[in-house]
Amino acid sequence: MALWGGRFSQAADSRFKQFNDSLRFDYRLAEQDITGSIAWSKALVSVGVLTQAEQQQIEAALSDLAVQVNESPQQILGSDAEDIHSWVESQLIQRVGDLGKKLHTGRSRNDQVATDLKLWCKKEGLSLLGQLDMLQQKLVRLAREHQHTVLPGYTHLQRAQPVTFGHWCLAYVEMFERDYSRLTDALDRLDSCPLGSGALAGTAYPMDRQKLAQMLGFHQATRNSLDSVSDRDHVVELIACASLSMLHLSRMSEDLIFYNSGESAFLELSDQVTSGSSLMPQKKNPDALELIRGKAGRVYGALSGIMMTLKALPLAYNKDMQEDKEGLFDALDTWGQCLSMAELVLHDMKVNKQTTEEAAKGGYSNATELADYLVSKGIPFREAHHIVGIAVVYAIEKGVPLEALTLDEFQTLAPEIEEDVYPNLSLKSTLEKRSALGGVAPQQIEFALNEAEKRLYSR
Ligand code: ARG
Repeated sequence: MALWGGRFSQAADSRFKQFNDSLRFDYRLAEQDITGSIAWSKALVSVGVLTQAEQQQIEAALSDLAVQVNESPQQILGSDAEDIHSWVESQLIQRVGDLGKKLHTGRSRNDQVATDLKLWCKKEGLSLLGQLDMLQQKLVRLAREHQHTVLPGYTHLQRAQPVTFGHWCLAYVEMFERDYSRLTDALDRLDSCPLGSGALAGTAYPMDRQKLAQMLGFHQATRNSLDSVSDRDHVVELIACASLSMLHLSRMSEDLIFYNSGESAFLELSDQVTSGSSLMPQKKNPDALELIRGKAGRVYGALSGIMMTLKALPLAYNKDMQEDKEGLFDALDTWGQCLSMAELVLHDMKVNKQTTEEAAKGGYSNATELADYLVSKGIPFREAHHIVGIAVVYAIEKGVPLEALTLDEFQTLAPEIEEDVYPNLSLKSTLEKRSALGGVAPQQIEFALNEAEKRLYSR
């Protein structure tokens, strides 16, 4: 039975019904719709619409329904109800008869859906926070293990200066920590309850909306009924959070795909997260990482989709807003899947320390060291940079690294160079020198690790 049959003498065209119905995706709000309905039934007692006994009967039936829904949410899909709100109400009426028809007093599906969706966002958001936390923990453990594993650092995909694999891990910890804080922030902002805003103008039953909000675990009630039923900022914000985090995940994936490639061979991904080629037997493809990288695209699609949908929508509720859910569900599902897949990939990955160290020594990534050495000998940096450029060309022509040049050769380039140039060109010294905050010096990495561990294990 439709919720609004009275005004109509003709049934909806089946094609329209199929077009209009949202149950096939909003069934995911069942738990929230039931929770919201129970709270609403209590508010109705406070304004004298329901007696205590009636409320108890309604609550018992709804709690029973919640258990059933929890056991098999898919059962909902068999119904031809228009949406989850109609479905829950019709199930209630089936269970308690006419009494169930009182529940929608003073309520609209407009404040109801806004409330359900926020409740869902809060729950989903918490679980994503947990996942962001787990991924960071994984990265920090990996960083501990590879605190000193030398890795070439790149700019322009050219070997630039050596870093360590631990330092690389901690860079992503920083990114995922910002994602964590962004999501916390978005969840904070959406923590106000629209229920009791009616269709758009507020409910005509003078209830305590703050109390209702608290009952549902919200920090406060929304302040303006028009805004309450029209606001989907939180949908945009959450998809934006997902988008930025997917961006970070895609960059991490890309790094790892490159490190796993035959060309660099810095690491080997586990068999568990790679796949073979149907034709080429030698292949072990980084599918998990490529999918993470690829799925970033659909999340950005959802972000522009919701922005387009909401743009220029007049107040208050419009059916356009029903389009908010599929993109949100898909974006947050995708984000969650990618977070756990990233964790799985990192779990069983082997870093080839020898190869990374060899690579870090190559590519003239100690050229800056030579320039700094010249500076220490009183040569201005610009000039030193030029001299080292010539030294690099010379060494490339000779086919050797800088540290293999003889002292004579060095002195032809700059007479200031002495025997002590050699220790300055070593990997160890290159790393140790970067001892200012945030650098790759061992004590800085140790400090960063301690800080990250403290933060992660104390929340
Ligand atoms: N299914 C709708 C949505 O997802 C909620 C129902 C509001 N419908 C209405 N006619 N006001 O937004």
